[in-house]
Amino acid sequence: MTTGQPSGFESITDRPQYYIDFLDERTSIPGEQMAKRIITELLDLRAGLAVLDVGSGTGTDTIEVAKAVGPAGRVVGLDKSPDMVAAARDRATAASLPVEFVQGDAHTLDFPDASFDRVRTERMLIHLPDPEAAVREMVRVTKPGGIVVASDIDAGTVFFNSMNKPLAEALTQRLSDGLAQGWMGRRQQRYLINAGLENVRVVPNVILNSVAFLRIVCTGLLTAMIADNTTTAPAVDAFWSELEQGEREGWLCTGVTCFTVSGTKPH
Ligand SMILES: C[S@@+](CC[C@H](N)C(=O)[O-])C[C@H]1O[C@@H](n2cnc3c(N)ncnc32)[C@H](O)[C@@H]1O
Repeated sequence: MTTGQPSGFESITDRPQYYIDFLDERTSIPGEQMAKRIITELLDLRAGLAVLDVGSGTGTDTIEVAKAVGPAGRVVGLDKSPDMVAAARDRATAASLPVEFVQGDAHTLDFPDASFDRVRTERMLIHLPDPEAAVREMVRVTKPGGIVVASDIDAGTVFFNSMNKPLAEALTQRLSDGLAQGWMGRRQQRYLINAGLENVRVVPNVILNSVAFLRIVCTGLLTAMIADNTTTAPAVDAFWSELEQGEREGWLCTGVTCFTVSGTKPH
């Protein structure tokens, strides 16, 4: 897999397979699986519900929702990227499930008011120019009494267990600044409340990452930091060696906080 920073999820047309591989790799991480379990629990899925997944990516989670609501339900995955929609359709066909994938923009959802019982979005708001507008749209298409769940990391909370504190702090800053909404995680509750939802609650979880995954996310940024003299190539080599040692010896303890929020649309 190519290495770099997958901050470009707002437009993945230049290298779609990289982003598809990135999402598949992410799904194998235990903390990521925990976030998905939290989302599912807060969604309170039942047979027959209509559910929208905004920014559905490869459709893996949307397909799981379709299994939960069954043939009497209706499940739609929406994504801005035609490549992601195509990948999701392939996976849904293979799973033989009644789920539909459509291309669209989270900022202006092409559904009537009150179309869905549940709306979920996972790791999409962080990539949007106007995430609060997207939250308002998700609330608009939710039926009164329905539930909206949004889940995202907060890149300002990325932590590296390195003794090179200046490098680790500079890298966290770069990661956060390289995303459209680096502090999305901490903003979500505010946006759900501002959009009029009730019973808004948050469930945080810490995601610990492997060095292989960190290399996918951080290599491009570290190369840029060497180029602009923020750090040096030997310092970066030592940084990776240290993290690999931590992984071998069991003290890596490097990751990020994810926040999953839910709210109910009032009647
Ligand atoms: C990090 S991926 C997350 C995919 C999936 N929810 C998951 O957790 O695996 C972000 C997704 O949001 C999509 N996306 C980005 N901007 C969007 C927009 N304005 N409207 C809809 N989808 C968008 C991207 O194409 C990508 O598939």
